[in-house]
Amino acid sequence: MWLKIKRDWEEPESAVTPEALFKQRRNIIKGLALAGSAAALPGVGQAASWFGSDEEEKAALVRKALTKTDIPPLHKDALTPESKATSHNNFYEFGTGKNDPLRNSREFNPHPWTFTIDGLVEQPLTLDLDKVMADMALEQRIYRLRCVEAWSMVIPWVGFSLSELLKKVKPLSSARYVAFETLYDPQQMPGQKSPFIGGGIDYPYVEGLRLDEAMNPLTFMAVGMYGKTLPAQNGAPLRLVVPWKYGFKSIKSIVRIRFVENMPPTTWNLLAPHEYGFYANVNPQVDHPRWSQASERRIDDAGLLGRKRIPTELFNGYGKQVAHLYKGMDLSRYF
Ligand code: MTE
Repeated sequence: MWLKIKRDWEEPESAVTPEALFKQRRNIIKGLALAGSAAALPGVGQAASWFGSDEEEKAALVRKALTKTDIPPLHKDALTPESKATSHNNFYEFGTGKNDPLRNSREFNPHPWTFTIDGLVEQPLTLDLDKVMADMALEQRIYRLRCVEAWSMVIPWVGFSLSELLKKVKPLSSARYVAFETLYDPQQMPGQKSPFIGGGIDYPYVEGLRLDEAMNPLTFMAVGMYGKTLPAQNGAPLRLVVPWKYGFKSIKSIVRIRFVENMPPTTWNLLAPHEYGFYANVNPQVDHPRWSQASERRIDDAGLLGRKRIPTELFNGYGKQVAHLYKGMDLSRYF
């Protein structure tokens, strides 16, 4: 792992009650500066510098950060154990089996990482992720992740609001959507080399959001989880997390973000348009053509047989924050 953060927000899972969650989200991780990856390597000295030594200053910055976001408490949801969240993955670039991404991504090297933000913007940028991280206020967000396959997890991500990043490029008024692209590197990603490994996807994996969805404060760019940098299998070093949408919208290992006028193509919609829509909002009333979306299997401490099914919530429980984005829309048509 090449990033370390102070972990005073970490609590045993048993302590993840609504109140504890409430407190955890107030432990905003601010100003975690990555002074170059070398300094962050384990054993190479100080990794993270907190935002100044003055306690008052810290408290003020935390208060300020909190006014920018409104993250709902997740009521009694226990965190998914880290070992499960990092070994049960969908990342077809490394294989289609749930264990494949862990096994096949061991050699994946996300350093150095540059990505572009371009398209309909005043000021296109090519950014070095280490420099971006030194510049951004990092936060922890505990979000539900609901896969379209009807399993779900609860994950403590580390990162920043996508909107904070997008503001840097000054989008033009003609921009209506934001398109995302995963790294294309068949040398490092065996699934891109062979359709047998990569499930026949036409790589690179692409995704998109409407501009107002992209700018919603819940829409998150994760650079870490469980207090560490993102493991390769979870989308190192930079991935999207859109908690009210099915997991396939949360594109991994991003190298390009583009502002566009028209709805951009998205990987699963291209593969099976009648099964996977552009919006992909979590919705227990709109079934997948081949299975129900009314409930989900929460991946927790229990073994396979012990796992409970729980009812799925509209917008994955984030309706208060995002339902207004879809006012008047027929969600079964725009699925
Ligand atoms: N991004 C890329 N580039 N390739 C993928 O195969 N799978 C998606 C999404 N992002 C995928 C991706 C799907 S289907 C899900 S459910 C989530 O990643 C899973 O994220 P996780 O493995 O961290 O749980």
